[in-house]
Amino acid sequence: MAATLPRYAVFGNPVAHSKSPQIHRQFALQEKVQIEYGRILAEPGGFAAAAGRFFAEGGLGANVTVPFKTDAYDWVDEHSERAKAACAVNTIIPLGSGRFLGDNTDGAGLAADITEAQATALQNRRILILGAGGAVRGVVPVLLQQQPADITIANRTEAKARELAERFGIRAAPLNGLPANRFDIIINATSGSLSGEIPAVAPEVFGSCVLAYDMVYGAAAQAFLDYARRSGAQKTADGLGMLVGQAAFSYRLWRGFSPDIQAVIRYMRKAV
Ligand code: ATR
Repeated sequence: MAATLPRYAVFGNPVAHSKSPQIHRQFALQEKVQIEYGRILAEPGGFAAAAGRFFAEGGLGANVTVPFKTDAYDWVDEHSERAKAACAVNTIIPLGSGRFLGDNTDGAGLAADITEAQATALQNRRILILGAGGAVRGVVPVLLQQQPADITIANRTEAKARELAERFGIRAAPLNGLPANRFDIIINATSGSLSGEIPAVAPEVFGSCVLAYDMVYGAAAQAFLDYARRSGAQKTADGLGMLVGQAAFSYRLWRGFSPDIQAVIRYMRKAV
């Protein structure tokens, strides 16, 4: 009988579009090992059963994407500090004896991409985040660790921005009343990008922006990044590096091997 390969998977709904299998295959090639990394489509309300089955069958680690990051948070037995801060889990690590640790590598993936691939320091920067959904909750705790001058959240539904701002001790501002020439780094974390919609932010807001970043990648990020550049942003970047970065930090948690993130970003840039 052929030996079974170490098994990993990403859980989501939808999940067919996920690039995680391709990314993790590159990491395994770097480590010179063979792994199996699949996509598992769970039904709404069905995450716990699907995860239970996967690990009972020998799964060694899982990633979790939309809409199950909160379900994963509830399912695991222990939480890393950053998962606790985000109330969301994107990485599950088996601890043995049927217990599981939930971590969240999204913020680390974003911070590493901004500081390394974009060579833009976060320390002492004035950061504006557009959006106040799950994606924002996941990254704010890690951005705060980088000691920015301040972080402001602006959201179409203002109450949600205020709620998050209170929770993390940061600022909230209305989307249509943002100050001009105030922010160094502007991050779009709204899901509108996926349908080509950009948040209604005045062009002057980008006046002193050294980096405009969209957390989605490829064509979906284009409308926001084009607008940012036209409005004066010095540099723009989509979220491909964040995607590869969060995957690399998951891989390291499972296997103790640190992938070369930049090499895989270059590979994926050609592939997507
Ligand atoms: P995610 O987990 O990706 O953050 P989410 O929790 O559904 O997804 O949050 C989506 C975010 O994108 C919200 O901040 C949403 O704003 P509202 O809270 O006002 O709904 C924001 N968003 C979605 N479409 C948008 C658009 N066209 N313009 C501005 N913001 C938008």
